[in-house]
Amino acid sequence: MNSGANMLTLHKPKMSDPLKILVVAARRDEIERLEAALTDGEFTAEVLTAHTAGEVDAALASGCDAVVADDALPDSLSLVAHVRAADADVPVVVVGEDSAERATQAIDAGADHFISKQQLTRLQEALRRRLRVAHARRMAHASDVATGKHQDELRAVLDHLPVGILIRHGDTVAYVNHALAEYYGVAAESLLGKTVTDLMRPDCREKMRQHIDALDRGESPPPWEFRFERTQGRSGVMEHSTSQSLSFGGMPSVISTLRDVTQERALRDRLQMADRMAAVGTLASGVAHEINNPLACVTANLEVLREELAPPEGVVSRMRPDEMLEALDDAREGAERVRLIVRDLRLFARGDAGEREPVDLGGVLQAAERMAGNMVKTRARVVQEHAPLPPVDGNAARLCQVFVNIFVNAAQAIESGHADENEVRVRAGVDGDRVVVEVRDTGVGIPPEVRARIFDPFFSTRGIGGGTGLGLSVCHGIVTALGGEITVGDGERGRGTVVRVALPLWSR
Ligand SMILES: Nc1ncnc2c1ncn2[C@@H]1O[C@H](COP(=O)(O)OP(=O)(O)O)[C@@H](O)[C@H]1O
Ligand SMILES: [Mg+2]
Repeated sequence: MNSGANMLTLHKPKMSDPLKILVVAARRDEIERLEAALTDGEFTAEVLTAHTAGEVDAALASGCDAVVADDALPDSLSLVAHVRAADADVPVVVVGEDSAERATQAIDAGADHFISKQQLTRLQEALRRRLRVAHARRMAHASDVATGKHQDELRAVLDHLPVGILIRHGDTVAYVNHALAEYYGVAAESLLGKTVTDLMRPDCREKMRQHIDALDRGESPPPWEFRFERTQGRSGVMEHSTSQSLSFGGMPSVISTLRDVTQERALRDRLQMADRMAAVGTLASGVAHEINNPLACVTANLEVLREELAPPEGVVSRMRPDEMLEALDDAREGAERVRLIVRDLRLFARGDAGEREPVDLGGVLQAAERMAGNMVKTRARVVQEHAPLPPVDGNAARLCQVFVNIFVNAAQAIESGHADENEVRVRAGVDGDRVVVEVRDTGVGIPPEVRARIFDPFFSTRGIGGGTGLGLSVCHGIVTALGGEITVGDGERGRGTVVRVALPLWSR
């Protein structure tokens, strides 16, 4: 009797590595018949035999590709069940007397196939087919495992990205990565199922809706910002950078990248403020002058009128009524100029967060000229040539700051004392869906080696105490945040500088 799992290696012409086939049988003649059936022809097999549960386990543990069980064993079906319990995928073929009932019982016990002993020639083909199925099943299983593992790895990658990722179905949050949850100071799970508008302060929701609608229409709106609440009532600023459609969990979804820009924005606001303070310092004497002149005119005219109405003893009234009216008008005009300057100052110093509004650039340019005018006037003629302009999408206070900076730079590039030979010329017009403003000066110009750095914060050629180096960097920050563009080039005939600011038209 062939007992145990001793191996009979059969030397056959090798097409590939021999298959290891476990024959579960006890009778010598049955074992030999099955060995013959398995090793006849092209099939290359190593045959192991076993006929007790223990031997079966030992054979399975040593690894085998298929099992052929002899139904003549008294406990053949329980051995088949035992094999199946030990290995769900290994092909099991039962060989027995030609009986439909026995075949059904074998299949019920876990066999894949039943072959009658009269048809042993079909054993190899049956095994081949079963092996192919088992192989396919194993591959599918392996790739399932691999994809599952991949998904875990992908998730880990997403969670480690230093940028917030949000996936939404419609406006319901379906996934957020670790970084985004951290911005809010909560666990990622607690954000799932909320609507995206829950993630921002109520005053930003309308804008979010408009952006979602635009995205759903297939447009790609530029990055936008919204304010959000963190835990403990602290608020922050989030930048919504990009959106892409994708399928997530089998549903059409949108993936967005978000960045917590709270600190950047706070720093930007502080730099803008520092720049305004520096400009006020530079312009203070000029602005004081601008206020003083009309104020002197107001005072003088009021004095004259007072004397007319209550002349000192012995003085006879000399003014005709139309002259008195003229004096009154002059006083009123002077007061109006003071009012405008004060309004410009307040506009310039307004420390709002730069909320968007329709802005009349013509008015802003006039205000900026009034602020910087005194400084420019001693060095150049100022010429503003532009027809009324359609409103741009911007913020009047911040744009006033931009043009004050540009005018001050232009003035500083021109030597004082030759005002009639120099000029600062402002042109503006509509170009497509933008308004473009050009400020040309006839100053010293910008050397090429300096050009690349002029927008850097704190870059200045003016030496210690001369300039903060914030002007153009702040201009760049303001203009690009509004979706516009600022560029600097050489002036005409190689003289001076031209600064171009393009801003989108108001379209809401
Ligand atoms: N209109 C201009 N003509 C010549 N140089 C300019 C002009 N505008 C800016 N610059 C150069 O760019 C530098 C940076 O300008 P800015 O950022 O306003 O800082 P600051 O005026 O404080 O130096 C200036 O120091 C100057 O060298
Ligand atoms: Mg400057």
